[in-house]
Order: sequence, then structure tokens, then C-alpha cells
Amino acid sequence: TYVVTENCIKCKYTDCVKVCPVDCFYEGPNFLVIHPDECIDCDACVPACPAKAIYRDTDVPTHLMHFLGLNEELSRLWPSITDAKEPLPDAAAWDGIQSKLTHLER
Ligand code: SF4
Ligand code: F3S
Repeated sequence: TYVVTENCIKCKYTDCVKVCPVDCFYEGPNFLVIHPDECIDCDACVPACPAKAIYRDTDVPTHLMHFLGLNEELSRLWPSITDAKEPLPDAAAWDGIQSKLTHLER
């Protein structure tokens, strides 16, 4: 499966949603996650994300490994998103900011 990680938080560009062939993204207030049982490992979302927030599960950097569990947990709680929308208003300012996990809204 593929995993959305920290740099999506407070950006939520949603370009990933546009390219996913199986609509396996789920949406929270300021973050998206991928449902691990639905992702078909096509790799389309990785180059599409302006924030470079998506990794294949086997390539997730060590300091972001906790996002594997978060994608699994939150994809079962949040609603599906199938159409792209405008990024969050301050997306450009938050892109690349470290330790955004404390800003995750559920
Ligand atoms: Fe969707 Fe493909 Fe990305 Fe999986 S790897 S989330 S199927 S675009
Ligand atoms: Fe997030 Fe990147 Fe998608 S910022 S919403 S994973 S395009």
C-alpha cells in the first residue's frame, strides 16, 4: 500500500485524488489518508503530490513510520474523497514545515 505522511497536514492539495484509479483516499479536516486494503500500488499519486507527502509503505522514512498506522486507523473513520478541491488556504506557507503532526485535526 501507499501512505500519506506528515507534509500533507495543513496543505491537502488533493492532486492525489485526481489521479487515483480506485478512489482510496479518505478525508479529514486538514489531512488525507489512503485505505491500505484498497490501494492497488499503482504509484500514480507519488509524483502528483506537490508536497511530496506520499510514499510506498516499504519506502517510508524511519521518522515517518507512525503514519502507516495513522493511515490505517483514519481511513476507517473518515469519509471518502473522490474529487479534487482547492488546497487549504495557507498550503504554500505550511509546505515543508517540520513536525506538523501536532496540527492534525480529526
Ligand atoms: Fe491510489 Fe495508486 Fe496512490 Fe494507491 S498508489 S493511493 S491506488 S494513486
Ligand atoms: Fe495531501 Fe499531497 Fe494529496 S498534500 S492531499 S497527499 S496531493
